[in-house]
Amino acid sequence: MSSPEQIVLVVGGSRGLGLGFVKQLTQTSATRAIGTVRKPAPDLEKELPNAKFLLMDMTDDASVVAAAAQVPELDVLIINGAFGARDPVTSTSTATLQTYLETNVLGPHRVINAFLPALRARKTRKIVVIASSSASLAFQAEPTSGGLAGSYGVSKAALNMLVVQIAKELNRPPANEAFTVVPIHPGWVATDMGNQHGPGGQDPQEAAKKILELVATLESKDSATFYKFDGTTMPW
Ligand SMILES: NC(=O)c1ccc[n+]([C@@H]2O[C@H](COP(=O)([O-])OP(=O)(O)OC[C@H]3O[C@@H](n4cnc5c(N)ncnc54)[C@H](OP(=O)(O)O)[C@@H]3O)[C@@H](O)[C@H]2O)c1
Repeated sequence: MSSPEQIVLVVGGSRGLGLGFVKQLTQTSATRAIGTVRKPAPDLEKELPNAKFLLMDMTDDASVVAAAAQVPELDVLIINGAFGARDPVTSTSTATLQTYLETNVLGPHRVINAFLPALRARKTRKIVVIASSSASLAFQAEPTSGGLAGSYGVSKAALNMLVVQIAKELNRPPANEAFTVVPIHPGWVATDMGNQHGPGGQDPQEAAKKILELVATLESKDSATFYKFDGTTMPW
């Protein structure tokens, strides 16, 4: 029999925004929080006894299959883990660009497909992919837009297309599986990645709280919309 509680899995729950999600979820009643980590995290298990931590590296098939085997049912999958630094495409090796694609595009593809059976086992069926304003072609092509998104932006834009394709495939007739599949830009968050731009980003748990509030309101009809953490929409 299905558990009445909501089961939410956060990919990349070791630190930063992902850990913010796990902490926030443990404060939500009737929610079982699962965070994935690449290395055993005994300190986190001690700090957050209500959360479960699973080992998983998105870039590794066997690791993803093994993690998915431990989660037979899932309501919400949050793909949060990513790799991001300052790597302009014209001065970065193709091998480095490949690393971005491996982690930020192929990783989410592998994870989403592996966890589809668990999501199909419940009715909620939400897939949330943490995107970035760096993914927005409209922003990046704007001559007056600020920073260069570089290799990270290439991978995040590809990830957005992956999300749109997954949303369309899962919700197309006649099956129409009623999935809610969205990319969400979290804004500027004070994490290892966000702090590369200096101090001043949002607190990770506060940002996670806002995103979870938004996710709770989303339905299948909202799929393939590019959201910002505050519920407004982003240009593709
Ligand atoms: N911070 C911002 O201002 C900002 C702005 C826009 C978008 N974002 C997006 O928000 C999300 C979270 O970013 P963050 O700022 O929290 O980044 P972060 O502080 O760099 O943390 C990255 C997380 O991803 C995990 N990760 C990296 N590679 C992985 C892999 N192969 N498999 C599984 N997990 C992996 C890391 O695990 P380890 O601890 O094992 O390395 C860590 O938990 C990302 O998708 C990022 O692109 C952030």
